[in-house]
Amino acid sequence: MNSEFQAELVETAQRLVSPGKGILAADESSPTLTKRFEKLSIVSNEESRRNWREMLFSAPGLSNWISGTILYDETIRQSVSGGRPFAEFLSDHQIITGIKVDTGAKPLAGHPGETVTEGLDGLTQRVDEYYQMGARFAKWRAVIHIGDGLPTTGCIEANAHALARYAKICQMGGLVPIVEPEVLMDGDHSMEMCYAATERTLQSTFSALRNQRVLLEAMILKPSMVLPAADSPSQASVTEVAQQSVTCYLRNVPASVAGIALLSGGQPEDVATAHLAAMNGLLRLPWPITFSFGRALQDGPMRIWKGQAANSDAAQKALIQLSEANSTASVPNLD
Ligand code: G3H
Repeated sequence: MNSEFQAELVETAQRLVSPGKGILAADESSPTLTKRFEKLSIVSNEESRRNWREMLFSAPGLSNWISGTILYDETIRQSVSGGRPFAEFLSDHQIITGIKVDTGAKPLAGHPGETVTEGLDGLTQRVDEYYQMGARFAKWRAVIHIGDGLPTTGCIEANAHALARYAKICQMGGLVPIVEPEVLMDGDHSMEMCYAATERTLQSTFSALRNQRVLLEAMILKPSMVLPAADSPSQASVTEVAQQSVTCYLRNVPASVAGIALLSGGQPEDVATAHLAAMNGLLRLPWPITFSFGRALQDGPMRIWKGQAANSDAAQKALIQLSEANSTASVPNLD
């Protein structure tokens, strides 16, 4: 790789997954955050979304557990009270700024029920701009649906190609790519179906990453866990989920990847944390496995905050408790 940024990229990737640290994924698009606010009757506008993010990022001691946070485009252009841009504020607080650069999952032509994530047009210029604004890593989420005959090879390959193109463009512009192929837990499929879909997705993704000459030491994989769907009649124990997930990653994720930072995917927060801890208690692994949770870190604090400044202290305490619990779960715990 001839990116002038190579040494910086590797260092940033290692900092993001350094022992006991994980990532706060606060990069919901405005429509998605609006839906989450509406469930709690919180008004959604630019200022209330800014207030929410400022409350999260200024939680005292957050950087003890959180190495980086992923922002949405609206947020990276906003400032904390007093006028400092969010990226500067985060950097002053030893938290690395990340940025979501995909433009969302769109229907995949010819593939009913499946999506491909878009956002490659103009990405080189956007990466340059985000780097200038202080971002040092990025995120792109591909979405894989399990269903009757799904996922198709066409969908898996289209998403893998886009992920790999995104990852290389980010590395050339100085941003560490978080490569997120999410196999959704919606539906009633079995854990075996999830394993098979996750394995096919990871194989195709790493094949595309190799073809696009992505430096694996300078990227982070953000996969979903291998688990039965939310409505599956046969649920699995914490140990089974940990074993199946780790087996799938060991078989399909090269050891040179800087780290694995899991998404929570809509699991209850304590369950996501228990799965992470169980994975770190199984055996010695070639990469750190930590968290890059969105809902599992924010749902509880949001229910407390409710859009009211008077609730900020309590919401921050809840965020710190969740961050600390996940930090503990991310540390290898072998007897
Ligand atoms: O893209 C999804 C987020 O970065 C992770 O969110 O933990 O709620 O699945 P989640």
